[in-house]
Amino acid sequence: MTTKIEQLPRTTVSDALKAELIGKTVRVCGWVRTRRDSKGGFSFLELNDGSTIKNVQVLAEAKLPNYESEILKLGTGSSVEVVANVVESPGKGQATELKAESVRVFGYADPTTYPLQKKGTSFEFLRTIAHLRPRTNTFGAVARVRNEISRSIHNFFNSRGFIYVHSPIITASDCEGAGQMFRVTTLDLDQIPRKDNKEIDFEQDFFGRPTHLTVSGQLEGEIYATALTNVYTFGPTFRAENSNTSRHLAEFWMIEPEMAFCDLEGNMQVAEEFLKTIFNDVLTNCPADMEFFNERIDKTVIETLKSIVSSDFVRLSYTDAVETLKKSGETFEFPVEWGIDLQSEHERYLTEKTFKKPVIVYDYPKDIKAFYMKMNDDGKTVRAMDVLVPKVGEIIGGSQREERLEVLEERMKSCGLNPEEYWWYLDLRRYGTVPHAGFGLGLERTVQFVTGMANIRDVIPFPRAPKSADF
Ligand code: 4AD
Ligand code: MG
Repeated sequence: MTTKIEQLPRTTVSDALKAELIGKTVRVCGWVRTRRDSKGGFSFLELNDGSTIKNVQVLAEAKLPNYESEILKLGTGSSVEVVANVVESPGKGQATELKAESVRVFGYADPTTYPLQKKGTSFEFLRTIAHLRPRTNTFGAVARVRNEISRSIHNFFNSRGFIYVHSPIITASDCEGAGQMFRVTTLDLDQIPRKDNKEIDFEQDFFGRPTHLTVSGQLEGEIYATALTNVYTFGPTFRAENSNTSRHLAEFWMIEPEMAFCDLEGNMQVAEEFLKTIFNDVLTNCPADMEFFNERIDKTVIETLKSIVSSDFVRLSYTDAVETLKKSGETFEFPVEWGIDLQSEHERYLTEKTFKKPVIVYDYPKDIKAFYMKMNDDGKTVRAMDVLVPKVGEIIGGSQREERLEVLEERMKSCGLNPEEYWWYLDLRRYGTVPHAGFGLGLERTVQFVTGMANIRDVIPFPRAPKSADF
């Protein structure tokens, strides 16, 4: 009997909840969320295995041989294997429940020390137990939605013939030219080798030169786009900005498509279709998780995503955006003038108050944007675009790239960069240059927007932020 039962393949909780399994015997494994004992001599276990936000209810009767000795000791967090008959559930809200034939305990969780006892534990507290928080409803749902977004992204590009390129994590160039990079070194920090003029002797370092963690895979994306036409990267990026906000991480994931024979217009078009596809896929494929977020985290998320999927994004030049903000009569912490970098309060005003939908702002002043963006004929603005969404603000940053060699060299110099160090990047303009464009989507900001989670540290498994890299 036991051996036969052991041979049963494992059924997920998600499947065990389906009415079509009624009448079957299944083997389900998972963690106990709660145990309720009834006076009539039986207990209910709520079991979850992460396959769905829902729990399956297990009825364990007193006649089970280990009822007194083991089942009555099962607390929240214990792990079990249940072999059971799937029966129609007498309760509302679920189609099935499991009538246990046997319950095997893998491990107990001492209720006096297990930290996930009560509902409503704060997100701040859960950050201190990042090793256990995926066992909560919220973090399980975030993990599944994050997975669906990633799947949707790969699917979007693959269905359009984009090649996935793995850009390096260790790099010798600063893509954004912002200098906010983490150094990678094997030099002994207690005994840094120096040259005669006291400069650090990086020739003795592992790579024989200064290296850092990448802030973006774009430059490598451009290399491959100018050979394969349409490519994308999807990987971790690192920024040593000292920004302690709910929208910044020191380590975050970015998706960067790069397209040859494409201008800013085409870039904006792809960005809009891209976001709509992701939102639509999450609504279609994660209905239970999205209902949870809509109920517990933000009552507007589903409605917002649905309306975005079915309407056009606003397109607004930076100059018009500044005009709109100035005319709004709103008092901002950072006053609005042509030339300023838009702050999150401005971005949110445009998307939440003025237009109530995503806004693509384009043609930004050159002085607030990176060196690689294509110069407009006015000599003042570049072919940049940012996609702004309610609550999160900037979710995508991108541009048409400067494909004219001389213009790019000039621009690098005026940004304080040495064109010789970027000789390979300039070669792309020297040999068979083409108009091209691309953008970067922040994965965590996307998860934030989709789920309504207020803090970016709660949408990545192990957040890294200033003074915070636990786990
Ligand atoms: O606007 P950014 O800096 O653009 C680039 O890095 C370009 N190289 C992209 C490209 O054109 N290929 O960053 C792109 C996006 C932002 O819009 C934002 O969503 C996200 O990356 N991002 C961050 N997310 C979390 N924490 C941070 N510190 C982030 N910095 C940028
Ligand atoms: Mg940006």
